[in-house]
Amino acid sequence: MKYVVGVDLGTSSVKVLLVDQYGEVHYAVSKDYPLIQQKPGYSEQNPEDWVEQTIQALKQLVNDANLNKHDIAGISFSGQMHGLVLLDEQNQVIRNAILWNDTRTTPQCKKIDQQLGGKLLEITKNPALEGFTLPKILWVKENEPEIFEKTSVFLLPKDYLRYRLTGKINMDYSDAAGTLILDVVNKSWSNEILRTFEIPSTICPPLVETEDFVGTLLPEIAEITGLSSDVKVFAGGADNACGAIGAGILSEGTALCSIGTSGVFLSYENDKNKNFGGKVHLFNHGQKNSYYTMGVTLAAGYSLTWFKETFAKGQSFTALLEDAALSSIGANGLIFTPFLVGERTPYADAKIRGTFTGIDGSHRMADFTRAVIEGIVFSINESVEIFRNHGKNIDKVISIGGGAKSELWLQIQADVFNAKVVKLQNEQGPGMGAAMIAAAGLGWFESLKECAQVFIKEDKVYEPKPENVKRYKEFYQVYKDVYPHTVAINHQLFDLRKGIELE
Ligand code: XUL
Repeated sequence: MKYVVGVDLGTSSVKVLLVDQYGEVHYAVSKDYPLIQQKPGYSEQNPEDWVEQTIQALKQLVNDANLNKHDIAGISFSGQMHGLVLLDEQNQVIRNAILWNDTRTTPQCKKIDQQLGGKLLEITKNPALEGFTLPKILWVKENEPEIFEKTSVFLLPKDYLRYRLTGKINMDYSDAAGTLILDVVNKSWSNEILRTFEIPSTICPPLVETEDFVGTLLPEIAEITGLSSDVKVFAGGADNACGAIGAGILSEGTALCSIGTSGVFLSYENDKNKNFGGKVHLFNHGQKNSYYTMGVTLAAGYSLTWFKETFAKGQSFTALLEDAALSSIGANGLIFTPFLVGERTPYADAKIRGTFTGIDGSHRMADFTRAVIEGIVFSINESVEIFRNHGKNIDKVISIGGGAKSELWLQIQADVFNAKVVKLQNEQGPGMGAAMIAAAGLGWFESLKECAQVFIKEDKVYEPKPENVKRYKEFYQVYKDVYPHTVAINHQLFDLRKGIELE
């Protein structure tokens, strides 16, 4: 039997999977690393942590799986999107990576809008948002000119990791699409954007397809991890593209809800010219010559983690969610908006912050937890609404990530989305997509679609319950009213808080 390894470089941890030729997972291990948050709105990581923890995870996998190392034939990657990694001429990292959930770049986004206007959407298919890479590059250029001067190439997180394992520098289209420098349809770096902001084109890495073979492991990496130096490395893709591949979102009419640190609602798209007016993102898929559109809730799983860490530290997620089942639809009249780090879809507002609305003396922990998970799903439903308003038929949704680990949460998704929600057997999220890229790349299958037929199996379907759908519609209307009613005071608080920090 031969195996592939899927590496998913996430925001809180790296997860490494060992998968056989039938899609069975033989071993999974994950290793954490910290976020560095020096100021509100800042979110950074040390790329060295990614490399060290991935090497440790691979080492553990090879050791514990107890296989002939030559049976592990391929490896590929999935990675948190948009994060800026800057390397100097010696390919040394020159500052911490600035991550996708860092929101310091509002002034740079304004500048991009002013200087490019409608051209930006035309070329990149996306609006200027704080999380994307171009505003981060401009922030470094303006605030740390000496670092910008030293920059020889920029990479995204999984591309840096792959570079350290193979010595090869490149970036795949699905991830490059999130930089805001890629001409998404023509699949090339946009000279117009680079020229406008005086960014030398030499800092853009060579582009490759997600499925491309890019090299083999460096001998020293093979030695430390115990893998063979012949193992074939395939480029891999953005975590959302890999999540889509790993859930079989490979043809028109399929949709995905992924609740990890962020929450994503994603729909396969054949038509690159479809115009959502920048309300949702349009990115290159990991499958050649196809696309996907998606809306993002910045703090999805992160909201529940924050809630648990702050108010229920000793408790497990399972216990919290079991408790939440004892509350009622609408959490007994309590509504949570998950804007802990600002929001992307549909507001694109870095200054908005979260709320609990309707707190009553009778509310207990179960109601608060229930409000948090409902608020996350309400927020994702705002993306579902945009898709439906643009003519997309959303009647079946594959659910992955933390939100697919609880019966209660899956049923809430079915009831709020008013669509069938499917849980997969042995779901592994983007790491499985990465493993599938390696499996297809090795030629085990003709295509990712063929691989999906063998690797992906549906487990259980959650049908929307009409009485719940009706009740949730009422609470959702109230949820949508919270943003317009709190935006002004939240912006005020944000500015006041900034003032305090500067003193
Ligand atoms: C997508 C986004 C997040 C990250 C999470 O645009 O910012 O989903 O990819 O890793």
